[in-house]
Amino acid sequence: MGRVTSVVVGKHKSSKLALLCVALLGLAFLLDLFWASSNSPPSIYQSFISPKKIVFLPFSSNNTQPQKEGKKKDGKKRFLSDTFADLDGPELNWEKMAGAPVPRLDGAAIQIKDQLFVFAGYGTIDFVHSHVDIYNFTDNTWGGRFDMPKEMAHSHLGMVTDGRYIYVVTGQYGPQCRGPTARTFVLDTVTKQWRDMPPLPVPRYAPATQLWRGRLHVMGGSRENRHTPGVEHWSIAVKDGFFLEKEWRSEIPIPRGGPHRACVVYNDRLYVIGGQEGDFQAKPGSPIFKCSRRNEVVFGDVYMLDDDMKWKSLPPMPKPDSHIEFAWAIVNNSIVIVGGTTEKHPETKKMILNGEIFHFNFDTLKWSVIGKLPYRVKTTLVGFRDGWLYFTSGQRDKGPDDPGPRKVIGEMWRTKLKL
Ligand SMILES: *[C@@H]1O[C@H](CO)[C@@H](O)[C@H](O)[C@H]1NC(C)=O
Ligand SMILES: *[C@@H]1O[C@H](CO)[C@@H](O)[C@H](O)[C@H]1NC(C)=O
Ligand SMILES: *[C@@H]1O[C@H](CO)[C@@H](O)[C@H](O)[C@H]1NC(C)=O
Repeated sequence: MGRVTSVVVGKHKSSKLALLCVALLGLAFLLDLFWASSNSPPSIYQSFISPKKIVFLPFSSNNTQPQKEGKKKDGKKRFLSDTFADLDGPELNWEKMAGAPVPRLDGAAIQIKDQLFVFAGYGTIDFVHSHVDIYNFTDNTWGGRFDMPKEMAHSHLGMVTDGRYIYVVTGQYGPQCRGPTARTFVLDTVTKQWRDMPPLPVPRYAPATQLWRGRLHVMGGSRENRHTPGVEHWSIAVKDGFFLEKEWRSEIPIPRGGPHRACVVYNDRLYVIGGQEGDFQAKPGSPIFKCSRRNEVVFGDVYMLDDDMKWKSLPPMPKPDSHIEFAWAIVNNSIVIVGGTTEKHPETKKMILNGEIFHFNFDTLKWSVIGKLPYRVKTTLVGFRDGWLYFTSGQRDKGPDDPGPRKVIGEMWRTKLKL
């Protein structure tokens, strides 16, 4: 849930809690009216949202970014967060490759050598895929489609590989805004055989997932209602596609919960990058679990675990970034992260996509923007092979002048990367 540490509403600048609450309620009411009279948020969920059901939650104060002065219509000066603006970066040459057999949003992808295994995802808000497509980076073709187990989640999965076996943990089961399943599977990518594994103690939606020191780690994500951040962290010993223990072990909770984060291991350290608190949630009582928008707080926080087994905070991303769970590649001593979403627009409240390639050097702990994408895109799926950075799938923007989300894509693009 959000945290309030400082709120100033109109002239009511008071330390009294009661007044603060009244002010917050008033603000919530005004915002509700504003949203009710404005357009629905433009996203795949677009036509499925009843704006009146939007629930206002207090903003977190933890994404304070450089502020710049803006002007309100009435001429009064105000401070407008810079976080929704595109950041400068070099232009890159992009080559359009063969598109995926199907468009997909919120799917998953794992690269093993010259193959990108692309799983599941929404085709539309009412239809989810239940199969795997494979891209071959050597001859740049798609093929090798095969089915997923019927009980496996269709989006927002936790997923990681040891180079042959792919561990698939929890995720959302079904279309719209249905909740998550705790079911867990292992895929042998050589034989294409699936195996059932002990479920997570509770279901999670889009948790951070990695293999670290012989254990499968799963942390954060959203709880069963899809919105409330989970901070729990579990692990289980694994080897060659088998769990070596009967039960998941509780580990040190992550300082900040929530879904849609990049999670990587580099040089024996575990990193969790970006993400958000809150997400769309099923409308209460809706038989089809119709998505309705809740407040979200996007952040660029970076957390790291090493020998101390205590979470350390590292320098945050150049701007808040979420929807990046499979949108990264490790290249030499760094991670590159492709696109994502940032904080909603402060005035229109619309979702804003990112069109940058972010770069973090694990040795210097420095972030930079190393290039621009052909368009802004969220939950894209990334691979890296022979100096080429590839991305496919996700949801792209409306155009160069409108960073709001629009079309679900299957396009594949690549660019030569030089760090
Ligand atoms: C949020 O911000 C407060 C105040 O700046 C800080 O004390 C706290 O540690 C932050 N929390 C996280 C999870 O970053
Ligand atoms: C990818 O394509 C190349 C060239 O056609 C082929 O030699 C290679 O075996 C393919 N990779 C896999 C894993 O099938
Ligand atoms: C990674 O490092 C190698 C060796 O220094 C270098 O040749 C290569 O160009 C680097 N890769 C990228 C994408 O910059």
